Amino acid sequence: MPRYAHITGWGKYIPPGILTNHDLAKMVNTSDEWIRERTGIAERHIATAKETTAFMAIHAARDAVEVADMDPAKIDLIIVATATPEHCFPATACLVQDAIGATRAGGFDLSAGCSGFGYALATATGMIRSGMHNAVLVIGSETLSQLLDWDDRGTCILFGDGAGAVLLQGKDEPGGVLATSLGSDGSGGDLLIVPAGGSKHPASVETVTNKMHYVRMNGREVYRFATRVVASAARQVVQQAGWTFDKIDLFIPHQANVRIIDSAAKALKLPPEKVFVNLERYGNTSAASIPIALCEAIDANKVNPGDHLVMVGFGAGLTWAACAVQWSAPKRRALAAPRAFTRLRYGWFGLRSLLSKLFRHLDALLSRIIDFIERRPPAV
Ligand code: COA
Repeated sequence: MPRYAHITGWGKYIPPGILTNHDLAKMVNTSDEWIRERTGIAERHIATAKETTAFMAIHAARDAVEVADMDPAKIDLIIVATATPEHCFPATACLVQDAIGATRAGGFDLSAGCSGFGYALATATGMIRSGMHNAVLVIGSETLSQLLDWDDRGTCILFGDGAGAVLLQGKDEPGGVLATSLGSDGSGGDLLIVPAGGSKHPASVETVTNKMHYVRMNGREVYRFATRVVASAARQVVQQAGWTFDKIDLFIPHQANVRIIDSAAKALKLPPEKVFVNLERYGNTSAASIPIALCEAIDANKVNPGDHLVMVGFGAGLTWAACAVQWSAPKRRALAAPRAFTRLRYGWFGLRSLLSKLFRHLDALLSRIIDFIERRPPAV
């Protein structure tokens, strides 16, 4: 019997620090008017050194788990979609696993640029529908501000930081994520790229001097690609779900540029009230943009049980990902546990993690002592 992947929890983390277009105009040769007119962005949130990708992912994940009233120990898998992982390795997902007390969960990071959330949602859905897993946490978390060249006005005006998460659970009732469509075109890989830091150009004096660790983008070409792909991916997933566009209650596109969103909405004949846009306040938060937008749409009462949602992401790769979701969660439930108890629980998870580290060190020390004793020549 096919199982359906339902979204039962959601959460987001937005760093409080704000960088406005006016602030940017003091840093590079640009203006509030130009940025608003060409992108629709007015401000973006920028993470502090403490608000790393894992930190924000953990906060978004905790909210999602709480909304779903889920015991973290029952989560089977954590997928973090990110282009800005905490480290090359270990995976950011493992740091989340430890911090939220998901003691039985596997975890990995997924790299698909700004389409990452859609890719992760599709992967999680496949695992639930196959019966392999029952509860999968999907997170998009990004600190793009760390990869921006703050002297490049073509890119630094576009991006912001943040995280969003959803919890997917398998159920027999039809609904949830009903169709997904993924695509890629590697021939456009150079159009949006961070050239260094991987195995081709590991960090060196040369890569740093040449600013090869920063985002490089051919904005015009990415724009052309995006306007083409968003509408076609949306059409494909709507057809796969067996829906028609008059059935769509809310379209949640990747928040990159309001002109890209408007052009897709026009092509799909969707009226403005059915298109969710929040990029004015956040800019492009890459893999976090769709889950953040979903959380805000829920808070704004724009998502109701039975609604038909379409989400479409696009980005580096080049990649694109579309998902058709029949919303099935009841209106946001009251938080399952009082805040104080929750804080206590996460405090315990932190302590448990520290104790694990301590025991590992003690174990290593003990092994070394035993080794030393065993290798010592016998006393005559
Ligand atoms: N402020 C002022 N002027 C700027 C500027 C800025 N921040 N950035 C570029 N310009 C200038 C350019 O230098 C150019 O000047 P020129 O005509 O003297 O050469 C002029 O504005 C037009 O540049 P162009 O690149 O054609 O602008 P555009 O209308 O394509 O807008 C983007 C640029 C980046 C906003 C737009 O191409 C875009 O949004 N692309 C998609 C990017 C995206 O979404 N990436 C993420 C995908 S996940």
